[in-house]
Amino acid sequence: MKKILLSGIKPTGDFHFANYFGALRQNIELSNNSDYESYVMLADYHALTSLHNKEDASKLRENTLKATAAYIALGLNPKNIFKQSDVIEHAELTIILSNLVTESYMKRSHAYKDAIAKDKEVNVGLFNYPILMAADILIYDAEVVPVGQDQKQHIEYARDMAGYFNKSYEVEYFKLPKEYIIKDVAIIPGVDGRKMSKSYDNHLEIFADQTKLKKRIMSIVTDSATPEDKKDPDTNNVYNIHKHFLNKEEDFILREKFIAGGYSYKEAKEDLLTTILNWREDKMKKYNELLERPEVLEKILKEGSDRARTTAQKRMPEIKKIVGLL
Ligand code: ADP
Ligand code: TRP
Repeated sequence: MKKILLSGIKPTGDFHFANYFGALRQNIELSNNSDYESYVMLADYHALTSLHNKEDASKLRENTLKATAAYIALGLNPKNIFKQSDVIEHAELTIILSNLVTESYMKRSHAYKDAIAKDKEVNVGLFNYPILMAADILIYDAEVVPVGQDQKQHIEYARDMAGYFNKSYEVEYFKLPKEYIIKDVAIIPGVDGRKMSKSYDNHLEIFADQTKLKKRIMSIVTDSATPEDKKDPDTNNVYNIHKHFLNKEEDFILREKFIAGGYSYKEAKEDLLTTILNWREDKMKKYNELLERPEVLEKILKEGSDRARTTAQKRMPEIKKIVGLL
């Protein structure tokens, strides 16, 4: 029997390069590995924790299609993608699991604590976020869950909940999920040197139009070194973004350019732009073609969701039997 792999990402906006190197690339590579039965989820229910009005609703709809197009253009097998909200069993299992955890246990969540520390109002959706994520994983009995370091605690929550359930009902029903932490990827900086993130508006969108992309790249913050100065590649943002696109040899050559001196930041930025344009040429073509055919994207999502739902639907009656609902 193949191991089940589940990955998830929220379709909250246009994907950026840190999403790609930090999550999407591994989600795609692992899901294409035939050792696994793979489910690649767009976590649109989770996206609702920060989207609450009419404008947000149309953005979410648009971003879900864009995320689908991006994933496929970046190499995902279309049969593996699905939309969380199409599989109602995620919500059903969330209700069941929510009765097994206490308020004080949920308050240990890093995301919750961060929000409280920033004096933010926490909606119940955000409070319950780890329970829905546990349900996402457990409804498929996924054993392999590729995530970035920032999601590690959520996998621990899922593991705990699987354990509580098994213990409470004296069954060995849920497998205990393991995170597959994407190791090599450090935090990728944005144009201002802070962590690349939509919320800092310092990100480079993968499929931004060329003028916008160029403008963003030219705005990458650098120090005051002159073109002639020798530069330390490791402490500058242009290199720390560029290196993710390079193989070992190309990386070595780029490092040498910085170290030797006579390589201006302007040139370095132009080189980064060229690398990105070459890297994405075919992908961009595919992305735009797909976006022109929303009906094809809808069909892909529907078929993927039907496949995921078939698995989830087999398991839900078993879970209901265990807890006495059936
Ligand atoms: P954003 O901060 O732009 O809202 P998300 O939180 O939606 O991005 O990111 C989704 C996933 O992309 C994260 O779980 C993480 O794996 C990856 N990711 C996002 N930003 C970075 C970054 N700066 N460096 C490395 N990985 C990142
Ligand atoms: N919380 C994850 C993130 O923000 C997205 C996600 C939702 C997820 N459900 C999941 C990831 C299940 C893996 C498995 O990146």
